[in-house]
Amino acid sequence: MIDLVQSHGGAAETGWWHRVKRHSLGWVAARDAAGLLVGFVNVAWDGGVHAFLLDTKTRGTHQHHGIGTAVVRLAVERARAAGCEWLHVDFEPGLRRFYLDACGFRPTEAGLIRLAEGP
Ligand SMILES: CC(C)(COP(=O)(O)OP(=O)(O)OC[C@H]1O[C@@H](n2cnc3c(N)ncnc32)[C@H](O)[C@@H]1OP(=O)(O)O)[C@@H](O)C(=O)NCCC(=O)NCCS
Repeated sequence: MIDLVQSHGGAAETGWWHRVKRHSLGWVAARDAAGLLVGFVNVAWDGGVHAFLLDTKTRGTHQHHGIGTAVVRLAVERARAAGCEWLHVDFEPGLRRFYLDACGFRPTEAGLIRLAEGP
């Protein structure tokens, strides 16, 4: 995971996935023929009908080959099969084409409060 995060210029944190996955409904990992992790998305869950897409990532060298769309599509299918009724995601404006056009999310009203200080 650290290698995958660093491959797209992200800031990797040791122990992050070990901590986070305990709160996950599930996750999708994409690997190449040699087993290298090239794509990932995590589905957090409220224990009921709401699931939340987090940490969508595609390895820097493998972007724009449909991997991100594929891992999100599988996450959608599996969250639905698990009984979830809603899948949420939030993202920066530059990712509208990915989430809305490629992955099929529709725009909605949402709210956000930054609880922590920082950039
Ligand atoms: C966002 C991300 C997961 C997309 O993964 P990907 O495997 O390249 O996505 P796809 O190949 O399925 O892209 C399908 C389409 O979505 C759009 N798209 C993909 N990445 C995009 C980006 N970074 N910005 C805007 N649109 C994007 C494009 O229209 C793309 O079609 P194209 O390749 O013909 O241009 C990848 O860019 C990434 O890991 N970024 C860094 C981490 C990040 O920002 N994650 C999102 C957290 S909310």
